[in-house]
Amino acid sequence: MQLKNIKRLELPATADMHVHLRQGDMAKLIAPTVRQGGVDTAFVMPNLVPPLITVAQVLEYQKQLMAITHGVKFLMSLFLHPSITPEVIAQAAEAGITGVKMYPQGATTNSDSGVSNLESFYDTFSAMEKHGLVLNLHGEVLESLAPSGTTLEEAFLPTLKTLHERFPDLRIVLEHCTTAAAVEAVRACGPTVGATITAHHLYLTSNEACCDPFAFCKPIPKEPTDRDALVRAVTSGDPKFFFGSDSAPHPLQSKTSASKGKAPAGVYTQPYVTQLVLVALEEAIERGVIMEADVTQDKLEGFLSRFGRTFYRLPESPENRIILERKEEKIPVSVVSEKGDIEVGISKAGTEVFSLTWEQV
Ligand code: NCD
Ligand code: ZN
Repeated sequence: MQLKNIKRLELPATADMHVHLRQGDMAKLIAPTVRQGGVDTAFVMPNLVPPLITVAQVLEYQKQLMAITHGVKFLMSLFLHPSITPEVIAQAAEAGITGVKMYPQGATTNSDSGVSNLESFYDTFSAMEKHGLVLNLHGEVLESLAPSGTTLEEAFLPTLKTLHERFPDLRIVLEHCTTAAAVEAVRACGPTVGATITAHHLYLTSNEACCDPFAFCKPIPKEPTDRDALVRAVTSGDPKFFFGSDSAPHPLQSKTSASKGKAPAGVYTQPYVTQLVLVALEEAIERGVIMEADVTQDKLEGFLSRFGRTFYRLPESPENRIILERKEEKIPVSVVSEKGDIEVGISKAGTEVFSLTWEQV
């Protein structure tokens, strides 16, 4: 397909398998932007304050999100913590919780209660394997543990292999993968291992992430060759790679007032997630990384909608479809709460994107 000449596209609703919706007034501002980006199914991260470490907390949070916004299926996760025993996993499965997210302690936003020794969770992983819960990995080691010259993600990849070998039936997602090496590592594993790819890692590199607080996130965007390897994974049609935006809102103030290099980690893309993936693919075609013919209706549908649903054992096709049309719409600078007290900057503000509407059924 000649993406840049296409005026109108129709797609099944996007499934976004990694979102941060926060809590309180921030959630009231952010949760409604899920549908705005063409998403009807969202896997919600548990790194709240405090983190979601009980089944009751997760169900209460899901209820709050459902009260804020309609038309989105919220898949929920627990925060991996010593209190998540095999008994809690059995309860979680019973309650319909989808996954358990592993954050290395201190690796990213709100991860202070994260994991320092994965082996101590082997009984929990065994229970997850048995009950069909997904293990979602923030796949980075701490800076102090990475050999020099290796990225934090590359240094984590042997752990992914170990976990997969030890628990071959446990579905594992390497979240927000960012390196060519990670793409290879995921390919080398069996079908129970997949990876999410964000929109922003398809257009950002370390050049922007180093210096623009609105491009700074974890894992940090890498080299142009890594970005391009992600683009190729997206257009490969390999169902191991599916969309998870890792859209991570932070108050604009906290981004702009931080001293250099100290801004909180997180790129906010949610209101334009589907369009931003298309923008990134257009840019990759222009750079000559992929050909126009590499972007097909089927591959877009696979990456944005079908592969994630299939991995998570949801019905393959959503009931709802989205329509994308070129109307010279540009991404605004930010979203702002009604009272004007919360503002969140949007990634790639000013870029011209498709306008998105939902097909009436
Ligand atoms: C996320 C956040 O802000 O919660 N930040 C990020 O840079 N991606 C946490 C995470 O997924 O690492
Ligand atoms: Zn995240």
